[in-house]
Amino acid sequence: MIKRTNLISRTYDLPNGYSLAAYESVGGYKSARKALAMSRDQVVAEVRAANIRGRGGAGFPCGVKWGFMPKNSNKPHYLIVNADEGEPGTFKDRTIMEKNPHLVIEGCIIGCYGIGAHAAYIYVRDELHLSKERLWQAIHEARKAGYLGQKPLGFDYPVEVYVHTGAGAYICGEETSLLNSLEGRRGEPRLKPPFPAQVGAFGCPSTVNNLETIAAVPLVFELGGDHFSQLSELHYLKDGGTRLFGVSGHVKNPGIFECAVGLTLRELVYDLGGGPPPGTKVLGVIPGGSSCPILRPEDVVHAPDSSSPLHPWHGKPAFDVPMGVDTYRALGTMLGTCCAIVLSDKADPVLAFHNLMRFYRHESCGQCTPCREGTGWIERILDKLIAGEATMADVDLLHEIASNIMGNTICAFGEGAAMPVLGFVQKFRPELEAYVKSKGKSGTGRLAL
Ligand SMILES: Cc1cc2nc3c(=O)[nH]c(=O)nc-3n(C[C@H](O)[C@H](O)[C@H](O)COP(=O)(O)O)c2cc1C
Repeated sequence: MIKRTNLISRTYDLPNGYSLAAYESVGGYKSARKALAMSRDQVVAEVRAANIRGRGGAGFPCGVKWGFMPKNSNKPHYLIVNADEGEPGTFKDRTIMEKNPHLVIEGCIIGCYGIGAHAAYIYVRDELHLSKERLWQAIHEARKAGYLGQKPLGFDYPVEVYVHTGAGAYICGEETSLLNSLEGRRGEPRLKPPFPAQVGAFGCPSTVNNLETIAAVPLVFELGGDHFSQLSELHYLKDGGTRLFGVSGHVKNPGIFECAVGLTLRELVYDLGGGPPPGTKVLGVIPGGSSCPILRPEDVVHAPDSSSPLHPWHGKPAFDVPMGVDTYRALGTMLGTCCAIVLSDKADPVLAFHNLMRFYRHESCGQCTPCREGTGWIERILDKLIAGEATMADVDLLHEIASNIMGNTICAFGEGAAMPVLGFVQKFRPELEAYVKSKGKSGTGRLAL
């Protein structure tokens, strides 16, 4: 059964739900008052108990990340909120900024306190004009009300929140590129270690969190960490709370839906998304942004070993596995940003694949050879395939190039580009081979996404 929730999205349907008045009418800023009255360690412990897995893609536990921040450093600390939202198919953070920006500001106040920072930078992709406007307005209102500044909410712990705009490069969503960009440098990933908790923004200890991760924080203090965690169907896997699920592509009802963690892909695509348009069937679903390998309706879970998080679903369709960080990793894909892209059987998966690979070639920052060259080679092989000039060996070459990008780059962009290649080659080999056999003229005869 679908567990719809209305916590992050509480103000979405209120008139002027983005205003301070609307936010306070539903209990806004009470959580920050509670958190600032606790010790810093208690705040981190509460967030840890909530089992918020990072909503930016990697699913790292938020409380654990906050715990990496030094206790006795003599440098300033910074909270960096990642609202670059560049992952194709992902549009959840934008809804929070537009419809509930004060939740982010309150999350920043608690986050700054928890990690020992006095300043938060929200890094927003420049073209999200309404998001920026709503954040600026929220900051202005919060300052005027005395919720930000020297004594936020009357507590002796100064906090300022700034909006910084990025210029729309996908790589600037990667946390260390973001830090370079924030500092006015070229947006290229940094080598890790040192990790941002040691050397982050401006050479100082920093925590980088996704905007939805930070938006979940006030809810933790409203409900209590354990309670928040247990909203999830997968809290026993330390994957807690509620989150925003997105669905787009070939569905009747695309959008963002807040639900308890553990919704299944079938529920997201068919019940919330309304299923594919009349007369079509689902061909495949990219579950969490374009970097996540595609799942097909006929995929079945294989997990005979009881230690696998997938064991309870052994023999069942992959679409019926609750969507969680660990369950999806075990399925051989990723939960990513939890925003699914649906392809109907009217779509040509080869053309959709080509489209994705053009994106990755264009967005590679070029710093690492395997990624810079590999993404270009993959795109050119797909160009050849569609032009009818490829051979069967080229299909294997796609797999080989992608395998050689994996693990050989400074940042996870390489994996993000390579994993969909491995997924498409594995799941759509007959369609790729059809292009070779038909010399690219007919292919599957379907339309690209
Ligand atoms: C190429 C690339 C792009 C990324 N883009 C974003 C993004 O737009 N927003 C985001 O929050 N995280 C993005 N990430 C993940 C961040 O590096 C980082 O893991 C995240 O901001 C951490 O926040 P979280 O722990 O709260 O999820 C990206 C990662 C890579 C490799």
